[in-house]
Amino acid sequence: MKLPFSESYRIKMVEPIKKSTRQEREQWIKEAKYNLFSLKSNHVFIDLLTDSGTGAMSDKQWSQMMLGDESYAGASSYYNLKDAVSNILGFPYFLPTHQGRAAENVLYSTIVKPGDVLPGNSHFDTTKGHIEFRKAVALDCTIDEASHTELEIPFKGEMDLNKLEKALKENKKENVPCVVLTITNNTAGGQPVSMKNIRETSALCHKYGVPLQIDGARFAENAYFIKTREEGYADKTIKEITKEMLSYADIMTMSAKKDAIVNMGGFVAFRDEALWRRCQLYSVMNEGFITYGGLSGRDLNALAQGLDEGTEFDTLETRIKQVAYLGEQLDRFGIPYQRPAGGHAIFLDAKKILTHVPKEQFIAQTLGIELYLEAGIRGVEIGSLLADRDPITHENRYPKLELLRLAIPRRTYTNNHMDVVATAVANIFERRESISRGYKILREQPIMRHFTIELAPAE
Ligand SMILES: Cc1ncc(COP(=O)(O)O)c(C=O)c1O
Repeated sequence: MKLPFSESYRIKMVEPIKKSTRQEREQWIKEAKYNLFSLKSNHVFIDLLTDSGTGAMSDKQWSQMMLGDESYAGASSYYNLKDAVSNILGFPYFLPTHQGRAAENVLYSTIVKPGDVLPGNSHFDTTKGHIEFRKAVALDCTIDEASHTELEIPFKGEMDLNKLEKALKENKKENVPCVVLTITNNTAGGQPVSMKNIRETSALCHKYGVPLQIDGARFAENAYFIKTREEGYADKTIKEITKEMLSYADIMTMSAKKDAIVNMGGFVAFRDEALWRRCQLYSVMNEGFITYGGLSGRDLNALAQGLDEGTEFDTLETRIKQVAYLGEQLDRFGIPYQRPAGGHAIFLDAKKILTHVPKEQFIAQTLGIELYLEAGIRGVEIGSLLADRDPITHENRYPKLELLRLAIPRRTYTNNHMDVVATAVANIFERRESISRGYKILREQPIMRHFTIELAPAE
């Protein structure tokens, strides 16, 4: 008999989590003004808010923490990370930052000016925020297939090359500081981008003299999908695929809290020495000296170790199979989600689940609150709250998809937890017709409002 699949680790330390009653949760979510970010974490049973910085570090990463060199400048930990960035990712220059959005801040402070256009495949919300904050435009050029949740295609996160070429033709080179390719495409459902699409996007950028920035928060998951889905890559290692993917990029921004499996950290990497030097100004001003960038020596060490572990096939297989497992359990109840299951999360199709909630009352957020009330499970809205208001008209933007993202932290929960999640969603699905009331906004920020928004039940 073929042996069943099982995890590539065993557990050495545990952290208790607490169940609660529905009555308690009703009180807590009301106190949190119906914003899932405002809940206390010990009021959450299974926390799928994000896979960012929430994974479990390995024994080797913890041992590297002890070896951290806390010198202000030129620490050996910095050189450990420099070696990893060079050997695993292939970039000669980099600046550490405290997380991914800080890498965006350092880069965009240097290269983005008002009126610029940055085409991309569904910019992540902090990326879009940093672009729009500088009065520039984050132009979405994702393939149309990404918005059809029921469609099963292997690389659903790709850049539409026709849309991209149109953008590059219509805008002067001086007004396009870079093109942003996010791998995997978080906003479209953790969907991967093929090597072919990465290569062709890069070629198109270079034809028009524009640099390609890869947002590589989940580059290793993307490499896993290329290995398992794209012809010609089955026999290559994740590290070989990683090197090729990133060889097409001029710049890489990285939230290391994802595929480098650390609780905090990031960096921006460059091929061009001159750009690296220009960016140092904003690194020193906002992050710290160029060899630590807002991180402790121990963090730099754990990050270097995490880049190595995160690009091992067994680590990735365990992780991505757990996401697929949750998808399979949801399939048993016929629950609609962005198909196929993504790399880091399941994205529930809230519009198809809560068919009776009007879009003006924030469908995906309503589903998120229902799931919390049902079982103390916390997801995150990827819908009209996240989309912010139009910067010119100030009207709410209603994207095609209203998704509830259930992001799975790395090496943290078991498949029994996934069973609880699937059953809780199924319970809501069963009584979906009875849910017709969503939420209204009481207070909001002009950009990235979803983090701090305050809501109340709609009348
Ligand atoms: C694709 C992508 N880019 C950038 C970021 C921002 O990274 P951070 O949260 O470390 O600032 C994230 C975070 O979730 C992300 O998913």
